[in-house]
Amino acid sequence: MGGAVSMVILLILLLNIAGICNGGVTSDYVRKTEASVDMPIDAFPPPSGYNAPEQVHITQGDHSGRSVIISWVTPLEQYPNLVKYWEAKSPIEHKFKAQSRPTIYKYYNYISGYIHHATINGLKYNTKYFYELGSGTGTRRFWFTTPPEVGPDVPYTFGIMGDLGQTYASNTTFEHYVSNQNGQAVLFVGDLSYADHYPFHDNVRWDTWGRFVEKSTAYQPWIWTAGNHELDYAPEIGEKIPFKPYMHRYHVPYRASHSTSPLWYSIKRASTYIIVLSSYSAYGIKLSSDFVIGLKFFPAEDKGPNNNNMLVQGKYTPQYEWLQNELPKVNRAETPWLIVLLHSPWYNSNGYHYMEGESMRVMFEPWFVDHKVDIVLAGHVHSYERSERVSNVQYNITNGLSSPVKNHSAPVYITIGDGGNIEGIANRFIEPQPSYSAYREASFGHAILDIKNRTHAHFTWHRNHDSEPVAADSLWMFNRYWNPQEENN
Ligand SMILES: *[C@@H]1O[C@H](CO)[C@@H](O)[C@H](O)[C@H]1NC(C)=O
Ligand SMILES: *[C@@H]1O[C@H](CO)[C@@H](O)[C@H](O)[C@H]1NC(C)=O
Ligand SMILES: *[C@@H]1O[C@H](CO)[C@@H](O)[C@H](O)[C@H]1NC(C)=O
Ligand SMILES: *[C@@H]1O[C@H](CO)[C@@H](O)[C@H](O)[C@H]1NC(C)=O
Ligand SMILES: [Fe+2]
Repeated sequence: MGGAVSMVILLILLLNIAGICNGGVTSDYVRKTEASVDMPIDAFPPPSGYNAPEQVHITQGDHSGRSVIISWVTPLEQYPNLVKYWEAKSPIEHKFKAQSRPTIYKYYNYISGYIHHATINGLKYNTKYFYELGSGTGTRRFWFTTPPEVGPDVPYTFGIMGDLGQTYASNTTFEHYVSNQNGQAVLFVGDLSYADHYPFHDNVRWDTWGRFVEKSTAYQPWIWTAGNHELDYAPEIGEKIPFKPYMHRYHVPYRASHSTSPLWYSIKRASTYIIVLSSYSAYGIKLSSDFVIGLKFFPAEDKGPNNNNMLVQGKYTPQYEWLQNELPKVNRAETPWLIVLLHSPWYNSNGYHYMEGESMRVMFEPWFVDHKVDIVLAGHVHSYERSERVSNVQYNITNGLSSPVKNHSAPVYITIGDGGNIEGIANRFIEPQPSYSAYREASFGHAILDIKNRTHAHFTWHRNHDSEPVAADSLWMFNRYWNPQEENN
């Protein structure tokens, strides 16, 4: 009798332990403490030469990768507003020219330099180009390589970073990524400069950030996602236009995917289809002109870049309608890998920002599972976490099935807001580790997604304290459309 009872208790204990172990790995790595303080304002001084172009960055300029948007700032004069470019193997330098239309913006008591964006079109695939900006002593030369033509088995390697900021830790993350020779483009999941950390959102810190990252952003495209630190919404100092500095400085090819806002858009690159969403713009059902399900922060003010985002007639918000139309357009025979970037994670077992992504998850998760999204990349939480392939779409208010379940059609959710910004590490994980969480660690780092062909991609997460070849977490990912097998953690 007593023996039977203890057997039952032992069994229950064992089952419990098994249940907890199912939750995956919380790394016991203890990172060295490091100061989360910003690098000095003169850590990345302007380049020498009169009116020298600075803060140079490039991104894809069309839907398929034959165009590049080149952006830069000139501090003193708006001219020259030209970019000259040529194929690296061409004997004729400066063969082609494109013009920018320089703009400036004011933010409280800050006035920006002249901000230039020039789109260069009709490039050859898989080709190295030189480009040159400025004139006289301020002439600067850079280069980039266009992606291969879009196709199902085209290998391509992305770096992944988020929530970078400009601390010494940010510098370590960034340098760690740059020293990895494999990254061909960066998927950036939002929160760039953290200028809003300063009094009056001192926009000089947008300039210092632009100079800090230039040694990568001038040479390979960074695919931008807007985070909450891009809002710069400060009505107390008269700044009521959300995303004003960000949208002046970082242009994206949103019109090429028929989006009405630079905050959500898509591109194709090599074998990937990348969808960028905005966690901080309305994405839900529109109930009346000033109440929108899923809208955060700006019921009345968020008029978006076209000043009419919230005023459209109809039941749904523009982001909702765009995504609904976008997902069926993805042709997995052409671009097998479907990747979504957004800022606020849907699956996060950290006490920081816990469940903040929930309303967007409720709106869009069934679509992601139905369309077999491979990977969802998010930032916002300043640590690293990788989920199992789970969905939580079966839940309804009466059935009580409110826990995520494994689903082979579901994405892997990766939170990589661990760039190292001034807010420090997020190290309060919820215990026990939930079953949806496969690996989590409170360290700074970056990731590499190495796509091999239509069936296989290798993902690695590199924490700052390891040397570059070391991967703290890694996984062979199998494509959900072509190879929907279970992955081994
Ligand atoms: C950033 O990191 C690089 C490479 O480690 C180093 O040379 C440079 O001094 C760092 N910059 C600052 C401001 O710490
Ligand atoms: C909710 O789930 C219950 C139990 O599975 C099912 O009977 C019911 O039809 C569901 N309701 C909706 C609205 O799907
Ligand atoms: C996985 O998700 C799909 C699409 O929502 C659904 O049809 C299917 O029943 C789910 N599978 C499981 C095991 O929940
Ligand atoms: C796809 O890549 C994986 C990993 O490199 C390899 O094992 C597999 O054979 C490749 N598939 C094809 C069809 O080449
Ligand atoms: Fe954030």
